[in-house]
Amino acid sequence: MKVFVTGGAGYVGSHAVRALCDAGHDVVVLDNLSKGHEQAVDGRARLVVGELADVELLDRELIGGGFDGVMHFAALADVNESVRCPGLYYENNVVNSVRLLAAMERAEITRLVFSSTCATYGEPEACPITEDMRQQPINPYGRTKLAMEWAMRDAVDAWGLGATALRYFNASGAAADGSIGEDHTPETHLIPIVLQVALEQRDGVKIFGTDYPTPDGTCVRDYIHVDDLASAHVLAIESQKPSTFRSYNVGTGRGTSVREIIEAARTVTGHPIPAEEAPRRAGDPPKLFADPTKIQSELGWSPVHMDIESTVAAAWRWHSAHPHGFSPASQEAAP
Ligand code: UFG
Repeated sequence: MKVFVTGGAGYVGSHAVRALCDAGHDVVVLDNLSKGHEQAVDGRARLVVGELADVELLDRELIGGGFDGVMHFAALADVNESVRCPGLYYENNVVNSVRLLAAMERAEITRLVFSSTCATYGEPEACPITEDMRQQPINPYGRTKLAMEWAMRDAVDAWGLGATALRYFNASGAAADGSIGEDHTPETHLIPIVLQVALEQRDGVKIFGTDYPTPDGTCVRDYIHVDDLASAHVLAIESQKPSTFRSYNVGTGRGTSVREIIEAARTVTGHPIPAEEAPRRAGDPPKLFADPTKIQSELGWSPVHMDIESTVAAAWRWHSAHPHGFSPASQEAAP
C-alpha cells in the first residue's frame, strides 16, 4: 500500500511511519518541521518539507501519485495554547484538514486515518470511556479535533471517503531501540517533564491538583505506548473500506495517577524526583481512561505495553540517550 502521512516527522507520526515501513508499505511524509524533526523520519520514507495549507503542493503530490491512503497527524496539540490562540488552532487543525479532504477527493483517495483525541469527550459521563459517549469538548483543541471528525463523516456521505478517527489517550513511551521519541518545545506532558527532572534539567515536578475525587487525589490518565498507537494506525488503514466512518478509542483501558507516574519514574531512573503539590491546572478532567473493546474486537488490536513501568522505561531510554532531543547537542553521553 502507498500511504501519504502528514505530520510524519512528529512524535506519534514518526512512530507510525516506522510501523508502516516495517509492514512493507511505501510511505511519503509531508511535514513543515515546525514541531517535527527531520531525523525522526524513517530513512525508508520520502520526506516532503512543506505546508498542508499549500493546495498546489498537495495536488502535485496526491494526483496521480498512486496513493492508497492518507494518515493525517499534522496538527497543533497544546491545550493551553489553544485556549489563548483559538484562531491558530482552527486554521491549522480544521481549515488545513478540510483542505486535505478536498485534495483527497480530487486525487480520488478513499482511505483516511485521522489523529483524534480523548479530548473530544471533554469531561466524560463515565469511565472507562466508550466511543458512543457524548462528545462535548471543553477546550478549543478538543473542539477542532471534533470538527474534523464531523467533516470526515460528511465526506464519507458525500463522496465515498472511508475514514477512521483514532481517539488517542495519553501518548507516551518511545521506540524500543531508543532512536526516536518525544521532543516537544515547550514540553508540557507529565512523563517527559518527570524524566527531565531525573536528568537534572529541572529541579522538580509540580503535581497539579491533589484534591481530585480519585484514589490518591491526583488526576488519572490512560498512558498508551506510542508503538501501540502506531500499530493501531497500520491496522486501521489496512482494513479501511470506502464510504465508511469508524471511530476507536486507543488506550490501554487502565488508569494511572500522577503520583503513580512519578513513582514509576523513580523506580526506572533511580532518581528521587522531587515533587511539589500545586494547585489544579485549569481544564484537567479528574479521570480519563479508555474502554478499548471496540478496536480490539473489530481490528484485532491489543496493546503490547500494559505495564506503566515498561512505558516509562521506554521513554527513559530515549530521554537519557538524547537529553536535548533531536537537536545536535543530543550527542552528549547519557548520565
Ligand atoms: N501534570 C502534572 N504536572 C506537570 C504536567 C502534567 O501534574 O508538570 C498532570 C496534569 O495535570 C494531568 C496529567 O499530569 O493530570 C497528564 O498531563 P499531560 O499534560 O501529560 O497530558 P493531558 O492528559 O493533559 O493531555 C493529554 C494529551 C492532550 C489531550 C488531553 C486530553 O496530551 O493532547 O490528554 O485531556 F488533549
